[in-house]
Amino acid sequence: MKKLTDLTDFTNEEIISIIDLAVEIKRDPMRYSQTLSGKTLLMIFDKASLRTRVSFEVGMTQMGGHAIYYNVATSPLGKKETMSDTARAASRYVDLIMARIGPHEDLVELANTATVPVINAMTNFSHPCQILADLQTIREKKGYLKGLKLAYCGDSNNNVTHSLLFGCSIMGINISVCCPEGTEYEPMPEVLEKANALASSSGSSVEVTHDAKSGASGADVIYTDSWMSYHISEEQKEERINIFKPYQVDQKLMGFAKPDAIFMNCLPAMRGMEQTAEVVDGPQSIVFDQAENRLHAQKALMLELLGIKA
Ligand code: CP
Repeated sequence: MKKLTDLTDFTNEEIISIIDLAVEIKRDPMRYSQTLSGKTLLMIFDKASLRTRVSFEVGMTQMGGHAIYYNVATSPLGKKETMSDTARAASRYVDLIMARIGPHEDLVELANTATVPVINAMTNFSHPCQILADLQTIREKKGYLKGLKLAYCGDSNNNVTHSLLFGCSIMGINISVCCPEGTEYEPMPEVLEKANALASSSGSSVEVTHDAKSGASGADVIYTDSWMSYHISEEQKEERINIFKPYQVDQKLMGFAKPDAIFMNCLPAMRGMEQTAEVVDGPQSIVFDQAENRLHAQKALMLELLGIKA
């Protein structure tokens, strides 16, 4: 059963193939307008979303299929029903399941017990759909992936950083993670271990630094994400602002990267927090191209998981 729980489910060649298809779908969407005719996607959410929900739902509509939004808060899941029973029952109705749920182990259980392909639409651990779209976006802007340097600045004990570490190391992008010292701010050790092994195979490097300037130095891509991930409480906000402030992406930090460096944020973005307004709204920012590519990359992903050709 094909699935996407993490980017490590795919090889370098499979990711290239999905990016190639995404670019082709973006160029000629009408060619794919009936490829998912009669197919249904179940979308399970226990967290808020703009991009993920809308891009998956629009993607199904544009390919002739249908998507069902299923809110965990108004479901029996976790109250009267297990993840495994939900997966087995839903698999009798739908062709594909995507889920945005906090605990990663719940997503893995869903994927292991469903009898249709399952897509991780973000857990507390990883966000592979975002990074698939990001890799497409970087290749569109730079023309290639292998050998580039990406510097990620900010909260690094989060899903986007983990998936960037997997995605970059599989694709041969050198990644520098710039974050405060401490296990609660740094990537999980098992992610770094896996990323280092993947980087050895692809001929790239993985670095964690507490010096944002040195991490950003010579970068082709500067990437940041919210300091307030969905599972972080509002009470921690002030403390986190003080801790992450030295890693805020401002114009000065962008100046350490290459002159043609691009700025990325998976969104939502908070101006004055993980980046300044000048950067996210400036000429180097490609954040809305990233957001758009969620649509194209996920269309390609769904066709790939279902084994459907145009
Ligand atoms: N980047 C992202 O996943 O956006 P949403 O949280 O709006 O889905």
